[in-house]
Amino acid sequence: MLPIKKIGVFTSGGDSPGMNAAIRAIVRTAISNDLEVVGILNGYDGMINGDFKKLETTDVSNIIQRGGTILKTARSDEFRTKEGRQKAFLALKKENIDAVIAIGGDGTFTGACIFEEEFGFPMIGLPGTIDNDLYGSDFTIGFDTAINTVVEAVDKIRDTATSHDRLFIIEVMGRDAGFIALHSGIACGAEDILIPETKTYYNSLLQKLKHDWRRNKKTGIIIVAEGDDSGGAFEVAKHIENNFPEFKTRVTILGHIQRGGSPSCNDRVLASKLGYEAVIALLKGKRGMMVGIANNKTAFTLFSKAIKHHQFINKGLLEMARVLSN
Ligand code: F6P
Repeated sequence: MLPIKKIGVFTSGGDSPGMNAAIRAIVRTAISNDLEVVGILNGYDGMINGDFKKLETTDVSNIIQRGGTILKTARSDEFRTKEGRQKAFLALKKENIDAVIAIGGDGTFTGACIFEEEFGFPMIGLPGTIDNDLYGSDFTIGFDTAINTVVEAVDKIRDTATSHDRLFIIEVMGRDAGFIALHSGIACGAEDILIPETKTYYNSLLQKLKHDWRRNKKTGIIIVAEGDDSGGAFEVAKHIENNFPEFKTRVTILGHIQRGGSPSCNDRVLASKLGYEAVIALLKGKRGMMVGIANNKTAFTLFSKAIKHHQFINKGLLEMARVLSN
């Protein structure tokens, strides 16, 4: 194995708060270990097009508190093709980049996994997604900030919901995973939480609402993950209006507000730790793995495992949330 002298770093897929803190940690750890660092702009597209920028210590000053990613991000269609990946490999070789650190979610690691297999190119991943849906890390960079953004918004909605005696159906992100919905729903005392990991039964939702109505509870919050099998917040509201019109419903889709903003303290610390560990791991010869934190310890998980086994959601928490919101 050749010694690593120059590394690349990129962000890919949906951005998440804390990605900048991770870039900062990677750049500074690498430089303090006498490595050169190159930022790859626009995710895999930038790798294909040779969109590279040398990063020095001062390039990552004053970014730890900023949301988004200074390296920009993209979901690359070209990297899904063999030709695209070939171009990326040649561009990395031309720039003399010996290894790459990828910050992203399952799409990013799926690409990394194939790239490693095809070219044997050393890569390490950092879990950067608000969805928290990677196996091998208790938390992903950006999740904590995202759920706090949701909680702040839902608390505000709760004020107006109560004043008007309305039932709000609030849709949060999570195409395949219900972590954002579950955690924010518990924290906001939501009357119900609908997530992709469990089947939504309208009968039990209506039963619960009728029970609330009989107790003179005419207001409430239902959190729906965008990927829930109900079809989303508008569908849920329609169903309630058609079957229990006593409730006055309103829909709020929180959308991309959940992806932005200054990262929380937890996300900054997580990103700093993982960025540092990723560089050390590369220097120790680790490849093809995501570095995460599991049970408070640094944990390495093969890309193939991190993406195939979504974190298991704790369904007991759903049950608890229902009891507590009664
Ligand atoms: O992958 C993170 C995520 O925020 C998902 O929860 C959401 O479905 C998706 O990104 C939205 O992506 P885009 O910004 O491409 O619409």
